Amino acid sequence: MLKGILNFAHYLLEESIQKDETVIDATCGNGNDTVFLSKIVGDNGHVLAFDVQDQAISTTKELLIKHSCTNVSLIKDSHGNITQYLSPTRSVIGGAIFNLGYLPKSDKSIITKSESTIAAVNSILKQLKKDGLIVVVVYYGHSGGQEEKESLLKHVINLNQKEYNVMQYGFINQKNDPPFVLAIQKK
Ligand SMILES: C[S@@+](CC[C@H](N)C(=O)[O-])C[C@H]1O[C@@H](n2cnc3c(N)ncnc32)[C@H](O)[C@@H]1O
Repeated sequence: MLKGILNFAHYLLEESIQKDETVIDATCGNGNDTVFLSKIVGDNGHVLAFDVQDQAISTTKELLIKHSCTNVSLIKDSHGNITQYLSPTRSVIGGAIFNLGYLPKSDKSIITKSESTIAAVNSILKQLKKDGLIVVVVYYGHSGGQEEKESLLKHVINLNQKEYNVMQYGFINQKNDPPFVLAIQKK
């Protein structure tokens, strides 16, 4: 059975993240991925969850309370500044997820952008554990989305194959700019 895009993204992370690790939700939005990561790493793990919007931070906070998640640092800042938040004692990252685009049912002008997305991917790759994954769910049907998709693809296609495996997963017969998954594994 083929997995849907979000299920496949979660499946990859479930397979690669271990309990007690430090992991990243680079775009927390409504908090669904944050809760998902929080449960995988458990009470002694740590999730750093980023978003630039107040609405996303408060919605995620509520969801975390509802699910009794106490291992999350919610950070209202761009994931482009991620290195500022990685403590020296917890510097190895077990995995990360990005959901690109805009917050559903919200301001469509606040979108992820290639420059900060690529900067964050590069920062995480430096501290990612061996065999760890960065999983990016690429939505690109919105205004500004094509540019980000193309820049990101160009960047990851050129990652050195001796150091990284890069995979793309998506449904190629779907209409209207269907999202796809990019997964980068550090060798
Ligand atoms: C598609 S939504 C994320 C959905 C979320 N993962 C969920 O489960 O609901 C994309 C989010 O990225 C956020 N965003 C945009 N630019 C950002 C940046 N530079 N750093 C962090 N978050 C950003 C937006 O505010 C928006 O909430």
